[in-house]
Amino acid sequence: MSERQEFLLDGEEVPFIPGQTVLQAALSAGRYIPHLCYHPEFKPHGSCKVCTVKSGGRTHASCTLPARAGLEVDSATEEMNQLRRTLVQMLFAEGNHFCPSCEKSGNCALQALGYDLGLTHAGFRHFFPDRPVDASHPSLLLDFNRCILCELCVRASAEVDGKNIFSLSGRGIGKHLIVNAASGRLADTGIAATDKSVAVCPVGVILKKRVGFAVPIGKRRYDERPISAQALEDAPRPPAATAIQETQ
Ligand code: SF4
Ligand code: FES
Repeated sequence: MSERQEFLLDGEEVPFIPGQTVLQAALSAGRYIPHLCYHPEFKPHGSCKVCTVKSGGRTHASCTLPARAGLEVDSATEEMNQLRRTLVQMLFAEGNHFCPSCEKSGNCALQALGYDLGLTHAGFRHFFPDRPVDASHPSLLLDFNRCILCELCVRASAEVDGKNIFSLSGRGIGKHLIVNAASGRLADTGIAATDKSVAVCPVGVILKKRVGFAVPIGKRRYDERPISAQALEDAPRPPAATAIQETQ
């Protein structure tokens, strides 16, 4: 067995496998660090910054910070949580997140994270983007005004589905999701409702038609457990990490 290595997260030892990031090691060890654009099946993206931690007097995105023996990391502090609240508020203000009428309500990572962080309001003036909804596809609907630019659909479509259906285009606040078809319409792509790119969207952009509001309130993904518990349940437990924990 490889030599045991660990770093300190909020003063407690977290074992890691060389090559893991701080976020990956923490989640595998059952320690939650809030995050949005990270997904255990994809390479870290580093765009949402919600996973920010403090180490060596500086802030770092823990999803891209390599775990190192002896590293001292602070995450569950009021300073970091306040920063995360501001970032999530910015995302809420930037898009049209009218949760009471959104089919993803209760199953949405942005909303669940807002609840977990105790957010009560967006805190910024709303941008009210006005991008047309794409309802051209027989089984899927796109509401671009809820996109948080995590690029999970882009990555899933390219790397898992092998279809390259989505891209991000534009710069700065004009950056937005596009459909890779000459017409720009989803109906003119080879997307299927069973594609990984459809399943992976953490918010209410890529929606299946005719199944909205099917799950009763109380039974939705984040009704039953908060996003912190859900993320730990979804985290991979590499056999080596389990072995390290068992030797403790
Ligand atoms: S559509 Fe969904 S998965 Fe794709 S970039 Fe936007 S929020 Fe992320
Ligand atoms: S989860 Fe690390 S930047 Fe989004």
